[in-house]
Amino acid sequence: MRVSFAGLLATADRSAVGAFTCYDLEVAAAVLQSAGDRGQGVILLIGGRSFTDPHGRLLLAALIAAADASDTRACVQLDHCDDLEVIEAALERGAGAVMADGSGRPYAENIEFVRRATEVAARSGAGVECELGGITGDEDVAEAVAAGALTEPAQAVEFMLATGADCLAVSIGNVHGVYRGLPDLDWQRLAQIRSCVAAPLSLHGASGIPAEMLERAIDSGIAKVNVNTELRQAYLEATAETIGGVLASAHVARLHAAQTAAVCRVVEQKLDVLAGPRPA
Ligand code: 13P
Repeated sequence: MRVSFAGLLATADRSAVGAFTCYDLEVAAAVLQSAGDRGQGVILLIGGRSFTDPHGRLLLAALIAAADASDTRACVQLDHCDDLEVIEAALERGAGAVMADGSGRPYAENIEFVRRATEVAARSGAGVECELGGITGDEDVAEAVAAGALTEPAQAVEFMLATGADCLAVSIGNVHGVYRGLPDLDWQRLAQIRSCVAAPLSLHGASGIPAEMLERAIDSGIAKVNVNTELRQAYLEATAETIGGVLASAHVARLHAAQTAAVCRVVEQKLDVLAGPRPA
């Protein structure tokens, strides 16, 4: 069943909501099933580029239909998008949240962009996530990149007040894709941001962040965790392992079953870490 972005994030007390990028229904089904089995709410992400692909609007409709048909509490969010028209199109088509990512713009323009996205989203009661600092790496292609500009705590307070956004994606050494060695997260910065920003905080680039670090991030106030690369890797590895055995019989359902099972394993691992609270 579909629930609001704000409602999902509000329940994250010493736990975090998992947000998983879905490129097709096999992945969405795996995410909904894994979250439902654990009684956890979940966010189905559709990437900004996936949505603007020729079949992107169908994919958004499919994710919304999957969330509606499921017993799992779920919200469908347009991920990283720097285009207000595209954001409006996704909201008109039922997205429950958008990530208005103006982090590539000058600070004042980022404020104005997110403020306008927040106004548009308010019409349908949808949530808006924004980004301050720069989380580097490609959202659809795995590359090992260095971390970008980090979120400044004082600026974050001003930014959230000026935009009225519902969630802030922090840049604390996290990157999209794969990490160059062990992630080096700035815990002091996260604590400072948490102490002065009232809105829920999200951590992007969770693929490759070890479980203990994710737990520490959640204990330090992260309420939403975004995962993509590890799902894609599991999906593609399962595809490679299974395709030889199904080609002769053209048994597509067996391929889909293998993809879904592989994605479920990754989602389950992540959700178990996100579930909290953990014994002290
Ligand atoms: P990863 O691909 O590194 O897991 O990041 C996903 C993400 O942050 C999507 O917004």
